Amino acid sequence: MTTALAAATESAITRTDVTPNSIKVRRMDFEFADTLPEFWFDNNPVLTAFLSAMSVSFPAGERYFIDSVRHFQARIDNAELKEQIRGFIGQEANHTKEHIALNRFMDRKGYPATAMENFVRKGITWVQRRSSPEENLARTAALEHFTAIIAGSFLDHPELFEKMAPELAQIWAWHSIEEVEHRSVAFDVYKSEVNDEKLRLRTMVKVTFIFALVNSVRTLMLLNISGHLFNARAWLKSLNLMWGRPGVFRRIVPHYFAYYRKDFHPAQHDYHDQVEAAKSRYLGDKA
Ligand SMILES: [Fe+2]
Ligand SMILES: [Fe+2]
Repeated sequence: MTTALAAATESAITRTDVTPNSIKVRRMDFEFADTLPEFWFDNNPVLTAFLSAMSVSFPAGERYFIDSVRHFQARIDNAELKEQIRGFIGQEANHTKEHIALNRFMDRKGYPATAMENFVRKGITWVQRRSSPEENLARTAALEHFTAIIAGSFLDHPELFEKMAPELAQIWAWHSIEEVEHRSVAFDVYKSEVNDEKLRLRTMVKVTFIFALVNSVRTLMLLNISGHLFNARAWLKSLNLMWGRPGVFRRIVPHYFAYYRKDFHPAQHDYHDQVEAAKSRYLGDKA
């Protein structure tokens, strides 16, 4: 890691003792009416395709995360971590349920979301069966770091939710809040039951390439179907939002590299205020 990057990474970490989050399972019941706009994120096909590509991967992906953690659940003695695992499983199971509803909305809008979900499921099952429980957990911890830092970046810039149709803002804000709330669980189970640093770091390198590749391909596929693959205006606007201002991805780079530190822990970055603000704005009595 270069010195500049190391310094940026250092400054990205809030070095305080963060109180462990309470992991609250909230049962939502979103409905996505056909009257909602096809391009529900800033009226932009590229931004909509990007988050839709993530959504089709959630049902099988989050099932995989649950399986990976559950494998080690019975061995955990720490009462607090046991409680957090229950919260993690409950939250991820609910994310799957609500994203299936969103994916059916995509089907009705003419996108092959069901076929894409099935394809993701087959791929993940293939990988899962060929991996040891330790490898599956290392992969889950790495992917949970991705979901946490992307969610955290959205929570840092709540104006992004305001660019979405209200029902979509709610599901993404809710999912972001809960990804941040349970961001330490897979990591803590890994540290407690596996604690192989080389495997953790090696897995993150591999996961980074796969995560970037599959999400890019799925985004391009959805964009192609929408007929906006070569919509330069939409691309410029979304690239600016992701890498320019506010720069959702640009800002997560130091947080991403923090994972490679020997003393890294997901709770080192404190999102308390952002989570509280999003809870009161989007979750109402379910906050
Ligand atoms: Fe989730
Ligand atoms: Fe998660």
